[in-house]
Amino acid sequence: MCGIVGYVGERRADQVLLDGLRRLEYRGYDSAGIAVNPDHRVEVRKVAGRLDELARVMQQEPLHPAGIGIGHTRWATHGRPTRENAHPHTDEEGHWLVVHNGILENFSQLRRELEARGHRFRTETDSEVVPHLLEELYRGDLVEAVRQAVLRLRGSFALAVLHDAEPERLVAVRQESPLVIGLGRNENLVASDLQAVLPYTRQALVLENGEIAEVSRDRVRVIRFDGSPVERSPMRIAWSVEESERGGYRHFMLKEIMEQPEALRETLRGRIDPEAGELDWEGLQLDRERLARIRRVAVVACGTAFHAGLTARELIERWARIPVEAEVASEFRYRRPLVGPETLALAISQSGETSDTLAGLRLARELGATVLGVCNVMGSSVDRESDLRLYTRAGPEIAVASTKAYTTQLLTVTLLAVALGESHGELPAEERRRLIRALDALPGKAREALGLSPRLEELAREATGWSDVFYLGRGLDVAVAMEGALKLKEISYLHAEAYPAGELKHGTLALISDGVPVFAVLTQPEVAEKMISNLLEVKARGGRIFVVAPASLREEVEPVGELLPLPESEPELMPILAAIPLQLFAYHAAVARGNDVDKPRNLAKSVTVE
Ligand code: AGP
Repeated sequence: MCGIVGYVGERRADQVLLDGLRRLEYRGYDSAGIAVNPDHRVEVRKVAGRLDELARVMQQEPLHPAGIGIGHTRWATHGRPTRENAHPHTDEEGHWLVVHNGILENFSQLRRELEARGHRFRTETDSEVVPHLLEELYRGDLVEAVRQAVLRLRGSFALAVLHDAEPERLVAVRQESPLVIGLGRNENLVASDLQAVLPYTRQALVLENGEIAEVSRDRVRVIRFDGSPVERSPMRIAWSVEESERGGYRHFMLKEIMEQPEALRETLRGRIDPEAGELDWEGLQLDRERLARIRRVAVVACGTAFHAGLTARELIERWARIPVEAEVASEFRYRRPLVGPETLALAISQSGETSDTLAGLRLARELGATVLGVCNVMGSSVDRESDLRLYTRAGPEIAVASTKAYTTQLLTVTLLAVALGESHGELPAEERRRLIRALDALPGKAREALGLSPRLEELAREATGWSDVFYLGRGLDVAVAMEGALKLKEISYLHAEAYPAGELKHGTLALISDGVPVFAVLTQPEVAEKMISNLLEVKARGGRIFVVAPASLREEVEPVGELLPLPESEPELMPILAAIPLQLFAYHAAVARGNDVDKPRNLAKSVTVE
């Protein structure tokens, strides 16, 4: 995810900014930049790549000493990770410098309007509309220009803004993307994350959505977007640098599990129109005609991403009525798959660098398929080698065990399945409306599901004595069960297996005896009764059953086992919610067993070798 740092004070801004950006490095980025304002002459240095490269450029072409500046590390969302697309962005005359975190939903429209009025754009980013807007709206009052500009923006944005005529102050904005002001003595900082300000101060002012801060070295003034003043006491930061990197959580994995509501909101941002109950095709940036010509889909993915692919198979077949094959990429690449010019090869990958997935993608391409990459890392190999792309927008995932990457993959393939359903004329408008409304409410429901954490922590303490755990599901729940078992194995090192519940009596039931733990995922109404009878068979053999199911099924579930209640949503979206308690259980089980949660043994975050 992008990082923002801003500084006004007595030190050399360029050094403070570089140091602050380094503290945000762990979040992942693909390009970086810094702007300072030494006495009405704004100077900028930007690079594609690492901060070391930026430091090298700053050594070769030193910036003049200045007490004010802004810096940014970019995690590309709109436009490739190039030097041009790196922040800070500027207007044509170079008066305004802006760094931005988040996604501007209405940037295409704003860009068209600005271009029609003569503005010339240099980058492919959504962010560049901001300096151009500011240039138009400026009447000599820096804060008022920013206030007018943010009223035109839709989406998520944290901004830090400089103007060359104003070497004494900068302006910061927060709207659905975090921003804090670090309050020092004769210096103040702006940052997207607390850890960037920790070496300078432990006093911070956390901006709320819809707020603008005017920051000079000895004063911070906060107003709302409507201009009204905000009075807020600063807070004292008690976290260590390490803790603050993890947002106060003990592990990155827990932080990433807890971030899922926001990550899911980002995945949806600008891609659905909840009022109309339709997809936003412009925001999706998918070629509808090209999708309509697809006659078959082949999913290529590994591990967790493959589990998201299994869900894609079910939803695409259900809504678009075209056949979908889903296979782990390490097998797909050595078969002679039935792929041709009318095939959509769906390459799903968090990192975009998984070697088997890439090999599968290349094979499908050779066979004439259109490749669609569902990827979290812009500029990665999967991204670059795809014809069409849908970013999952989970933000950087640092823990080896995939959590928010998985649920955002599920959500992204759901959007794709709706798009294919619509382009193939198979998903009626009424059904689309039902789904789009439910999608819009989903991030809030994910937050409710996180409330199961204390009970799962309790259970995980008991689980230190367990040796084998079974995961069952039917229909869409089978893939969720598989993902639950994978999560448990990889970080708790407990043996776990997942099955379609109907398969149990064909062999595995022999392993069920007194006290054997079984997690059942039960979210699909059309197979709920069947699932209950499978679970009764498990119960009759002494199995200890935990059922992840909507709260409304309490009466049906209680006779067979303990209900882990989920909020209600449309059945097709329930796998996203059902994944959450299974992630939490795996996490707490790994902690209870004293394992290295974020870096489990024998595993790498990105498997770039065969
Ligand atoms: C699961 O938690 C893993 N991190 C793993 O299965 C992962 O999903 C797989 O290696 C694929 O990685 P990718 O999404 O980066 O391609």
